[in-house]
Amino acid sequence: MSTVAPHLSVEKVAHSRLDELNGKVAFGKVFSDHMFVASYENGSWQEAKIVPYGRIEMAPSLSALHYGQAVFEGMKAYRNPAGEPLLFRPEANFQRINLSAERLCMPPISQEVFQEGLTELIRLDANWIPTGEGSLYIRPTYFASDEFIGLRPSESYKFFIISCPVGPYYSDPVKLIVTDKYVRACEGGTGAAKVAGNYAASLLADKEAKAQGYDNVIWLDAIHHKYIEECGTMNLAFVIDHVVVTPKLTGTILNGITRDSVLTLFRDMGVKVEERLVSIDEIAEAFDSGVLMEAFGMGTAATIAPISTINYQGRDLVLPSVSEYKYSRAVGEKLEDIKRAKCEDPYGWAVR
Ligand code: COI
Repeated sequence: MSTVAPHLSVEKVAHSRLDELNGKVAFGKVFSDHMFVASYENGSWQEAKIVPYGRIEMAPSLSALHYGQAVFEGMKAYRNPAGEPLLFRPEANFQRINLSAERLCMPPISQEVFQEGLTELIRLDANWIPTGEGSLYIRPTYFASDEFIGLRPSESYKFFIISCPVGPYYSDPVKLIVTDKYVRACEGGTGAAKVAGNYAASLLADKEAKAQGYDNVIWLDAIHHKYIEECGTMNLAFVIDHVVVTPKLTGTILNGITRDSVLTLFRDMGVKVEERLVSIDEIAEAFDSGVLMEAFGMGTAATIAPISTINYQGRDLVLPSVSEYKYSRAVGEKLEDIKRAKCEDPYGWAVR
C-alpha cells in the first residue's frame, strides 16, 4: 500500500465567494471556495487535487450509501494576532480519523495526503478564517466509493476536506434531557469511532428531545442505563464541589480532542480532575445537596458549552446561572487564547 501523497493539483476558483458573505452565517451552511479531494484505488492513493467547492459525482450503487463505511473529523482553523492561520492539534485529528477508519475496515489515510491536503486547502482559503471570535470549521470526510452492493469492505475510497466559517454551535446555554429509551453505543460497538452512523442513530432521540423543548440528549450506558456517556455533539463534564468529573473513556464514547485539551488545562491549572464512571443518580444527588456547581459540554464545534438544565425522569435540574460558571469559563478562555496564539502554548497545540 502506498503511503506517499500523489502529486497535488490545484484548480483555483475564478472569483471568490467570500465577498457574498455578509454578517453571521449559520453553522455549516456556507462553504469556502475550495475543497481537497483524494482517491484511493488499487491499494494506493491515486489522485489528490484541490478544486472549487462543488458536487462530487456518485453512482447510486456507491457502497458508503448502502453500508455506511463513512468516517469524518471536525477541526478548526483560527488566526493568530498577526492574522496568520493556525490549526488546533491537527495531528490528533489525523490519528483519530485513522482509528475510526480501522474500525470500519477502511485503509488508513496516509499522513502526506491528510497533511498536504489540509495545509494547502487552508493556505488557499485562509481569507475565509473569520477575524474576531469565529473560526473556520474543517470537515475531513472519508467514505467507501465502490460501485457495488455486495456486503464487503469497499476497495476504493474518497477522502475530501471542506471548510466553513462558523461562530458558536450553541448560541445559548444548553438544555439536555437524559434518555433511557435509546442507547448510543455499547461495548464492542462503534461509539469511540467518529463514524457517520453514530450520528444517524442519534437523530431520533435528538428529535424527540427537541420536541420536548431540549437541545439534545444525555446518553447513558447500554447495560445499566445508569452511567453518563456523552451528548452526541460533545463530551460532558461536571464540577462537583470544586472537582471536575467526567465520564472515563470506556470505548463507548468519543475520545474528544477538546475533552483531552480541557482536562489537561484543568490539571495544569491545579484543578482536581476525575475521569471515572459518573452515574446520573450521582449528578442528581449532587444537585440536591447543592454541590453541583457546573455542567458543560466539550467539543470542536460546541467548544465549551455551558449546560443550564438537565432533565432526568421528568424532573428538570436547573443549574446555577451560567454566569457563575467559573471553572468552565476560565478553561474556555485559556483554550481560546492558546488556539489563537494569544498566550504561551507549552503543549504545541496551535500549529502554523
Ligand atoms: C464536532 O464537534 O466537530 C462534531 O463533529 C460534532 C458535530 C455534531 C458538529
